[in-house]
Amino acid sequence: MNKRAEVKEISLEQAAFWMPFTANRQFKKAPRLLARAEGMYYWTPEGRQVLDGTAGLWCVNAGHCRPKIVEAVKRQVAQMDFAPTFQMGHPIAFEFAERLARIAPEGFSRVFFTNSGSESADTALKIALAYHRARGEAGRYRLIGRERGYHGVNFGGMAVGGITANKKFFGPGVAGVDHIRHTHDPARNAFSRGQPKHGQEFADELERLCLLHDPSTIAAVIVEPVAGSAGVLVPPVGYLERLREICTRHGILLIFDEVITGFGRLGKPFGSQHFGVMPDLFTTAKGMTNATVPMGGVFIKDSIFEAFMQGGEGIELFHGYTYSGHPLACAAGVATLDTYEEEGLLTRVSTIEKHWESAAHGLKGAPHVADIRNCGLMAAIELEARAGQPGKRAYEVFVKAFEAGVLIRVTGDTIALSPPLIVEKAQIDRIFECIATMLRSVN
Ligand SMILES: Cc1ncc(COP(=O)(O)O)c(C=O)c1O
Repeated sequence: MNKRAEVKEISLEQAAFWMPFTANRQFKKAPRLLARAEGMYYWTPEGRQVLDGTAGLWCVNAGHCRPKIVEAVKRQVAQMDFAPTFQMGHPIAFEFAERLARIAPEGFSRVFFTNSGSESADTALKIALAYHRARGEAGRYRLIGRERGYHGVNFGGMAVGGITANKKFFGPGVAGVDHIRHTHDPARNAFSRGQPKHGQEFADELERLCLLHDPSTIAAVIVEPVAGSAGVLVPPVGYLERLREICTRHGILLIFDEVITGFGRLGKPFGSQHFGVMPDLFTTAKGMTNATVPMGGVFIKDSIFEAFMQGGEGIELFHGYTYSGHPLACAAGVATLDTYEEEGLLTRVSTIEKHWESAAHGLKGAPHVADIRNCGLMAAIELEARAGQPGKRAYEVFVKAFEAGVLIRVTGDTIALSPPLIVEKAQIDRIFECIATMLRSVN
């Protein structure tokens, strides 16, 4: 089969596209382009095959261009391109929500549709605030995030997020936000396999903030079950349980950001089910439609939804997006769930995670490796930073791996990996062998 895609000649030098989270000038001098995808692979415009070690951007969980999803989107776009969901409805949005509720943890039978992880984060925060107000506790306005957390780039998610570079350019942000400390503790936990042993007590920081601010002013706490963008920070044993317990005791809502951990990444449909700790709301996106059409969603505990349904007639939540429940996204979503279910992908990780873990930790002792972390089908290889050049060494590994036909992701000096859930053992081996080779080739 000819793997070359038909691509128009484009000049990148003066390209109109201002690329997100990219060093534009550097990229345009030495671009890396992808033009075609199928299953576990991308192909460059020249037809060079690249193994996808990152599921795109943690999102193509079923692998690329899955026929059922492609067909469903084609069918839907020909049947009805768009219809509003404000005071109107279309069947496939209801169908998709119903299907999602079936795989959600018990007691989460409602979903609010958004178009991205960032919108999901802001939507969840707004629902939390409005929920307390609906119950007569409008004084709960504070939102608590965590250092090194990532909840997208909109103002709410940016405010509760904890990655300095994502915040420092954009002013004072949202009022009434505070943060608990992150859980990264390499001195005690380096090279942990799965959940690290030490650090449950980091959750007690929430108690400290309750003392400082008074818990009756705190609406919600938001954390990623496993912090992804900050470099796969796995929660210490007992940590999420402790957060849950403190939130419950003080009437604070616990929001899990499952944009990465949702849809099978940890071996269960959602991270909460993997860890056995239930939030009050959780956000999703990415794997929801296998990234075929952008979409996100916030899952809401029944008791929270019911609190909104107690008032007088009329709109219960003044919130929504033009594209909430977009027909194309819903069609992609239904076909995605079909694919996940037919192939057992939402639980497949439990059958390969030991192989994944051993392969990842096989890099212990390789040049420059300072720490290795893993959970489900996520892994991070943290490198020693080159003196005076933070991020440079990992970036070189990334470029060389791409040239050798493996797509990895780097954030600072950490290599983050999250292949599609269909990955085979031989492909896992290839990803880590490639990284080992590249680590030996950089100084
Ligand atoms: C945990 C988490 N939340 C939110 C987002 C933002 O999602 P999006 O880029 O779709 O807005 C991301 C993206 O990586 C994420 O990892």
